[in-house]
Amino acid sequence: MPSVSRVGAYTHLTPDDLEPPGEPEVFFEPADTEIGVWVAADLLPPGGGGTVLDLGSGSGAAAAAMAQAGAARVHGVDNGRQTLRWAERHYASPDGRVTFALGDYSLLSPRELLATAPGPLPRPLVVTSNPAYVPLPAEAARTHPSISGGTDGLKWAGPIIGHARTLGADLGLTIGSYSTPRRAAALIAGAGYRIAAVTLCPLPFGAFTLEHPERVLALEERGEAVLWRSGPDPLAYFVVGLACRRADGTEQQGGEKELTDLLRTAARSATTRLETLDAPDAAPPPWPVRVLDLPPATTRHHW
Ligand SMILES: C[S@@+](CC[C@H](N)C(=O)[O-])C[C@H]1O[C@@H](n2cnc3c(N)ncnc32)[C@H](O)[C@@H]1O
Repeated sequence: MPSVSRVGAYTHLTPDDLEPPGEPEVFFEPADTEIGVWVAADLLPPGGGGTVLDLGSGSGAAAAAMAQAGAARVHGVDNGRQTLRWAERHYASPDGRVTFALGDYSLLSPRELLATAPGPLPRPLVVTSNPAYVPLPAEAARTHPSISGGTDGLKWAGPIIGHARTLGADLGLTIGSYSTPRRAAALIAGAGYRIAAVTLCPLPFGAFTLEHPERVLALEERGEAVLWRSGPDPLAYFVVGLACRRADGTEQQGGEKELTDLLRTAARSATTRLETLDAPDAAPPPWPVRVLDLPPATTRHHW
């Protein structure tokens, strides 16, 4: 029977990773990053091994933590030059186990993405991404490339899912509960994946999203975004980590309604434990659900 578990502290990121880089073009949102590592860990072989191809690898903290979590090899690709320099300086490993390269995953083919790595990547392969997922007006893509996910928050999900599919990889995708989760589940199922595990973490709106909430609120009004209004912050959402496996054709896919129901149930909670997920009348989720109830970050940096 799938269950809801709770994790009350950072497990994968180290105290050093929780220090803000302080660089203008290096994304820092530790809860987001930690969730991405949990998602990768859900998909890695139980005894360790395999490769993670991390698309939009940011500071590199996630990639290093994925190696710590058991990946034999992690290769991160990011299109931010300053971001790449930071990742290489702080997280590339001398033994070549963790590497980074400059690249735009919306332009490169899957084969070209693999070719940015300095050598062959051992299988099995997991493609992960915590892409820019905030639904924002189109012009925000220029000013806020680390968070702007286009008008529905899923601008980057299509190419990422497509790369995973072409490469025959399992898929770890992080979105927001306002990034049209119903549509995300449909894209995932349509590409032949099934959701295998879900990780949720409540997070207050970021500064830029608070200043420009129009898209998010419009999506909420249409029933496409789930916001958290009954928690400690007036406007919050859930970071949603989706660990997805290639479906073998006999399994039931979909998950659109189940994911939306799960998020709506969570959104009735008053505390960051998301206690309503345990209520006797809550529909049991069809997947294991992990709630990250993390200490709030003192600093966040989105660019
Ligand atoms: C939300 S941040 C996530 C960073 C990192 N994965 C983490 O969890 O800490 C998104 C990252 O994707 C990068 N990015 C955005 N669009 C990209 C693209 N088309 N190709 C490669 N990287 C991209 C940004 O530079 C940024 O570092």
